[in-house]
Amino acid sequence: MRSAPLTLLLSAFLCAIGCSDGGDGGGETGGGGGVDATSGTGGAPGVTTGTTGATTGTGGAPGVTTGTTGVTTGTGGAPGVTTGTGGTDGTGGGTGGSDGNTGGGGSTGGPAERTPAASASTLREAGEKANPPLLIGAAISASGLNDGNYSRVAAAEHNYVTAENEMKWDALEPNPGQFSWGSADRIVSWAQQNNMKVKGHTLVWHSQLPGWMNNLRGAQQVEQAMRRHIENVMGHFKGKVEHWDVVNEAVLTDSDTGVGNPRMRPTVFYNELGEQYLDLAFKIAREQDPSVKLYYNDYSIDARNDKADFVYEMIKGMVERGVPIDGVGFQMHIGPPNNEAGGEDVAYNLKRFADLGLEVLISEMDINRCGNQVTAEEQLTYYHDIVEACFLMPKCVAVTFWGINDGRSWLNSWSTAMCNGGNSQSLLFNDQYQKKETYNRVMDALLGR
Ligand code: XIL
Repeated sequence: MRSAPLTLLLSAFLCAIGCSDGGDGGGETGGGGGVDATSGTGGAPGVTTGTTGATTGTGGAPGVTTGTTGVTTGTGGAPGVTTGTGGTDGTGGGTGGSDGNTGGGGSTGGPAERTPAASASTLREAGEKANPPLLIGAAISASGLNDGNYSRVAAAEHNYVTAENEMKWDALEPNPGQFSWGSADRIVSWAQQNNMKVKGHTLVWHSQLPGWMNNLRGAQQVEQAMRRHIENVMGHFKGKVEHWDVVNEAVLTDSDTGVGNPRMRPTVFYNELGEQYLDLAFKIAREQDPSVKLYYNDYSIDARNDKADFVYEMIKGMVERGVPIDGVGFQMHIGPPNNEAGGEDVAYNLKRFADLGLEVLISEMDINRCGNQVTAEEQLTYYHDIVEACFLMPKCVAVTFWGINDGRSWLNSWSTAMCNGGNSQSLLFNDQYQKKETYNRVMDALLGR
């Protein structure tokens, strides 16, 4: 569990205030290979992919191969490599290639913009009618589904679901090798009944980890347990989940605002396996399912701060090593105890991660007013500008809000988020499930207003 000393919480208020290329990763950077290739016979695949971007690409792995090819044949080998790695989404780098020299345009491949719907009466409709569409998600709790108003609003306004706690390790594997699917299955079948997609959250995380797992020692034991967990969980939900958070919150800073001494978080995974546990987790996950999208997820990487830079370098290294990662989730818990980030900061960070050839998404958005520490006006501006930053970027594929209504928000009882009892007022609906002004500002962003 995270905690932040009071003094550090104060830095939350010192935070910085603050897309469009297209094509899927492989295509995009694939162009790079082409730039330097002299003849283009080989680098071609990467090159052409780049120019055509999303149109031709489909999967990341091919992008990698493409890049390699570019290296071999073209003079622009190195760029080709970059190309490949970037191409998580690239599909078929192989289509291209006759002329390495033309590849440079890759960065323009794919849709440069997202076109908003002309009108919509729900957030879900606005997301579905946008081109390309944007998933609109909510964290859903199994207990919430017992409340008719909750489930009605949740299904009407969203088409994407993350289980708030029910797919965490302690919920799914409370005892070694014994799995408990009931609550998670309930959420998944509710989502399916309502034509909603599902995000799996989360496979490898230090928090909400059962004691038996925390107490394992030795690389072999930890790796075995991690493998068993990933295999069983992904196997159980195979075909039902769109994106998996493979690793959550692997990086720590002195303050939860993402400032100070960024480093790998000491967890049973890191302590026993070293930093390579991330590569390993993603590789195991990919073995379970070649097509599901695999994500790294974290908080306070939205602003320009130490943590965002550190995570960027970490993910860049993974991409360069060919680790099968498809995307990065920005939790987007704005306000105490985490950072505040304006639209420009968020756009900057979404874009630089996407430029690695990855998808991005907003995975857990809420804005803690913490009494009045974040004013009503600031909150509205953040909601609009941050959702807009994602909307404007076709590679940003989803915005998920961390709950439905204020009264049920986790921030009301999370110790470091409580500000002398100040209400979080963090979400889009009030306790009577009426739309708040925050809802209207999100809708504005989704409709291009
Ligand atoms: C939170 C839940 O909302 C709470 O109900 C639970 O007590 C703690 O976890 N980052 C994450 C989420 O990745 O899983 C956390 O969810 C919020 C912070």
